[in-house]
Amino acid sequence: MRDLNAETITQAVVSTLGDSVDPRLAEVIEALVRHAHAFVREVGLTEREWAEGIQFLTRTGALCTPTRQEFILLSDVLGVTMLVDAVNNQRGATATENSVLGPFFREDRPQHADGADISDELPGIPLIFEGRVVDHEGEPVAGTLVDVWHSDAEGHYDVDVPGQADPAMRGSFRTDEQGSFSFRSIRPASYPIPGDGTVGELMRATARSLMRPAHVHFLIDAPGFERVTTMLFPSDDLYLDADPVFGVKQSLVAAYDEYAAGTGPHSELTDGPYTLLRHTFVLEPTTGR
Ligand code: BEZ
Ligand code: FE
Repeated sequence: MRDLNAETITQAVVSTLGDSVDPRLAEVIEALVRHAHAFVREVGLTEREWAEGIQFLTRTGALCTPTRQEFILLSDVLGVTMLVDAVNNQRGATATENSVLGPFFREDRPQHADGADISDELPGIPLIFEGRVVDHEGEPVAGTLVDVWHSDAEGHYDVDVPGQADPAMRGSFRTDEQGSFSFRSIRPASYPIPGDGTVGELMRATARSLMRPAHVHFLIDAPGFERVTTMLFPSDDLYLDADPVFGVKQSLVAAYDEYAAGTGPHSELTDGPYTLLRHTFVLEPTTGR
């Protein structure tokens, strides 16, 4: 293993993997080496560019804390998060598809009773949500844990709303015997992904927009079924075809129906106009992966 050149060095690195290495680890590392080397050769990476790349990754790591994960955000904007999802979750045609989890889910969220108002009186157009969780045969899945979280009318999650100390626009619900759950809140707005770190630098350097279409997140967990991490987008959002994290799927674009004051099926719940969103989530049995 001497006098290696730009072609022979790849096989030389791969051949250093010992026979006792776990076969899956060997497969992943070998492919990583081959693709990394091919990338360097393809773009003719300069020494300065490689040093800048290492600096970028170092600064990305330094931004990570228990509440901020800049590497996941990097994975999101490079399309890797949704690619890993696509490779691992080939669901039937009617099953609810996944989207990104994003950084705003909180483990320490409140539990709510069915129909609760989760807005904590933040200002905005009232949103009434009525959902069902069913299996692939349309049978209700009772007792499903459904987490919900979304932004306010300015595009801020509760943690970023000035003066907002309590959790708002988030929480968990349990489906009833019909697989149903519902809540009241305020209509979310489109908002930019965090742009104050290395991912923001990359997005600006590559002339990409930070704006995500508005959405409500759902994390749906029932024993015996694949966990669904998803969101529902309003069909009239300006950013549906420019999501910087590639999380929009046509099946997740939903009618956020707008009603004038005193009209529609829930006129009794609000004095003014409101939005009604209804959706049925379809789960697939676990495959044991
Ligand atoms: C979100 O929708 O909360 C989100 C997803 C990916 C990156 C940033 C934000
Ligand atoms: Fe979000």
